[in-house]
Amino acid sequence: MKQSKRTPKKSPSLDRRDFIKTGATAAAVGSLSIERGAFAQASDTVKVALIGCGGRGSGAASQALSTNGDVKLVAMADAFKDRMDGSHKGLQTKHGLKADVKDENKFVGYDAYKDAIAQADMVILATPPGFRPVHFAEAVKQGKHVFMEKPVAVDGQGVRQVLAAAQEAKKKNLKVGVGLQRHHQLGYQQVVQQIHDGAIGDIVSARAYWNGGGVWVRDRKGLEQRAGRKLTEMEYQMRNWYYFVWLCGDHITEQHIHNLDVINWVKGAYPTSCQGMGGREVRRGIDHGEIYDHHAVEYKYDDGSYMFSQCRHIRGCWNSVSEHVQGTKGRGTVSGPHMLTDNDGKAIWRFGGGGQNPYQQEHDDLFDAIRNNKPFNEAEYGATSSLTSVMGRMATYTGRMITAEEALNSDENTMPEILGWEAAPPTLPDEDGRYSIAIPGKTRYGVIEKA
Ligand SMILES: NC(=O)c1ccc[n+]([C@@H]2O[C@H](COP(=O)([O-])OP(=O)(O)OC[C@H]3O[C@@H](n4cnc5c(N)ncnc54)[C@H](O)[C@@H]3O)[C@@H](O)[C@H]2O)c1
Repeated sequence: MKQSKRTPKKSPSLDRRDFIKTGATAAAVGSLSIERGAFAQASDTVKVALIGCGGRGSGAASQALSTNGDVKLVAMADAFKDRMDGSHKGLQTKHGLKADVKDENKFVGYDAYKDAIAQADMVILATPPGFRPVHFAEAVKQGKHVFMEKPVAVDGQGVRQVLAAAQEAKKKNLKVGVGLQRHHQLGYQQVVQQIHDGAIGDIVSARAYWNGGGVWVRDRKGLEQRAGRKLTEMEYQMRNWYYFVWLCGDHITEQHIHNLDVINWVKGAYPTSCQGMGGREVRRGIDHGEIYDHHAVEYKYDDGSYMFSQCRHIRGCWNSVSEHVQGTKGRGTVSGPHMLTDNDGKAIWRFGGGGQNPYQQEHDDLFDAIRNNKPFNEAEYGATSSLTSVMGRMATYTGRMITAEEALNSDENTMPEILGWEAAPPTLPDEDGRYSIAIPGKTRYGVIEKA
C-alpha cells in the first residue's frame, strides 16, 4: 500500500446520516457565516486564477470572465507551459485586457498552483481530478473562493480531504462551486423540484447511463514526436492522463459521475453499497493505460431503493447519456426532455424550455454568491457523488460488494509519493509497454494492488 503526504484522517462528519443531510442541502452554509470571505463587494474587481489550463479550465475561465461585473484573470498555472500558453492566447483573443496575465504571474510545474492561488480572490481548479483534493485544500487554506471541476477526488482519501476542506470553507464563508453543471440547468432544476414535491411518489428505482464512444488518446509516439525527445514515464502519464486511475479515476469517475450525481440529487442521499462488473473489450491499445471500457453497477440506497448504472466507451453500441427514475405513482426522465408520466404513461409534467447554457449559469450563480455574500458551497455533494463513482469502480475492479463506508475509509492512496518529472508514477508499464489491469476476484482494492 502506498502512502503519501496526503494523509487526512477520517472526517469527523463521517456519520453516513450527516452526509445524507449535508450532501442534499449543501446550501445551508449561509447560516454558518462566521467571517467574510476573501471578497464580497459587488462593485470590486474579482481576481481569478486558473489552475489547469486545458479544455475545460479555459472554458471555465472564459465563463468566469463573462459574468456580470469587473472580473480579471490575474494568474495561471499548469504542469506544462505549452498548455498554459495556448490557453492564455485563446482567452486573450476572446477577452482582451480582462485576460492580460503578466508573465510573472504564469506558473509552471507541480507546485505552480500555490503561487497562482496566492494572486487571486477566486480560483478555478481544472487539472486532472487526482490533484483536486490537494489543490482545493490549498485554496481553502489561503482563504480563496473556488470553482472546481468534477470529480473532486478519485479515491477515498481524496474524498475525505475534500470533505475536511469543505468544512473549513464553511467556517471561512468561502463560496465553492463544483462543475456538476446539471444543478444549474433549468430543466433539471424544475424536474427535480417536481419529484421532490411528490409528483411521482417515492423513488423506488433509478437508471443512469453514460454510454458513448469514448474520449481522446494522447499517444506516446505522437507526444514524443512533437517533443522531439523521449518522455519520462511521468510526463507521458500526465499528458495521457485519462488512462491512469491516479489521475482520472477511470471513466466511471471522470464522466459517469454526472449521471450518478443526478440520481443522488433526486434521492437526496447517496448509495450505501454497490456491486457490479466491468472490463476492457476494445480498449486494448498500447496507449490505453489501465482503465476499463465498461462498468455496470447496481447501487443500493439506505431506503432499499436501487440505482442501475452503466457507462461504456465502445463505438458502435447503443448510446445514451441520461437519467431515469421510477416512483410509486409514476416515472420520470430526469435528463432531457425532463418529463414525468403516471404509471400508465399519461403525461403529468413536462419542462417548458428556457434557461441558459449551464456552464455559464454555474459561474453566474457562483459570482453572484461571491459578490452578494449568498450561501454557496457545493463541495459536499461534489464529494459524496465522487465517492459514489469511486465505490462503483472498486466494485467492478474487485468483483466484491463495496460499502460507502469502506470506500470512504479506504487507506488506498492513488497519488505517487513524489511528484516530479523523473519520479515514478504508481503504475508502471511492463517491457511491452503495457500496464496491469484490475482482475475481478483477484484485485483487492482496485488501483494499486491489482492482483
Ligand atoms: N463539467 C464538465 O462537463 C466537464 C467537461 C470536461 C472536463 N471536465 C473536467 O475538467 C477537468 C479537466 O479536464 P480537461 O478536459 O480540461 O483536460 P485537459 O487535459 O484538457 O486539461 C487539464 C490541464 O491540467 C494540466 N495539469 C495537469 N496536472 C496539473 C497539475 N498538477 N498542476 C497544474 N496543471 C496541471 C494539464 O497540463 C492540462 O493543461 C477534469 O476533471 C474533467 O473531468 C468537466
